[in-house]
Amino acid sequence: MADFQIAPSILSADFARLGEEVDNVLKSGADIVHFDVMDNHYVPNLTIGPLVCEALRKHGVTAPIDAHLMVKPVDRIIPDFARAGATYITFHPEASDHIDRSLQLVRECGCKSGLVFNPATPLSYLDYVMDKVDMILLMSVNPGFGGQSFIPSTLDKLRQARKMIDDSGLKIRLEVDGGVKVDNIREIAGAGADTFVAGSAIFGAAAKSDANDYDTVVGKMRAELAKVD
Ligand code: DX5
Ligand code: ZN
Repeated sequence: MADFQIAPSILSADFARLGEEVDNVLKSGADIVHFDVMDNHYVPNLTIGPLVCEALRKHGVTAPIDAHLMVKPVDRIIPDFARAGATYITFHPEASDHIDRSLQLVRECGCKSGLVFNPATPLSYLDYVMDKVDMILLMSVNPGFGGQSFIPSTLDKLRQARKMIDDSGLKIRLEVDGGVKVDNIREIAGAGADTFVAGSAIFGAAAKSDANDYDTVVGKMRAELAKVD
């Protein structure tokens, strides 16, 4: 079976108790902390920056932190996230004037690099930089907000990206972000994704059930992934 990883998006967590929320979701078996950075410029929302990433590390979080930069420009802030303890730093090609340079900068800073594709952004941005990415992230919603519905055309795009990765022979993760739930994760994995961001599906469900842990949702997602051939 593929090495599937679940990456809860802390955008939907309770920010007033962020350290505890991250501890709980990792205890429930999640693999990666997905960290959404928005600047009210590239996307119409404003969230968290390197200080919060650093605070999570100081709190004791050792799991990989996947910093998804929805900011423009990106180069100024990349070293700050590296210093703050990010593991992956991904950015949108539209947000960098020099994509190759930004990808190199991420790796020079000691992090794993990734490009993020909005629903209408073509995969051709990868043509000359496949060897410089560790992660390809396909947005299955338009970036800016949690709780939106999965855009079905992402499935075909995932199949194309999976083929590009397999043809390249390179070790690149294929992540999907937006509207991932227990009831569609299996189909999404079947289309080729191996890393699954889920915000409202994980943090929203626990709030409703008052369980204060995320075992049920993460467990159900794992069970669905176990059915993928
Ligand atoms: C949207 C963010 C996502 C968001 C996903 O711009 O990149 O990571 O938190 O939220 P859900 O899983 O609720 O669609
Ligand atoms: Zn994200």
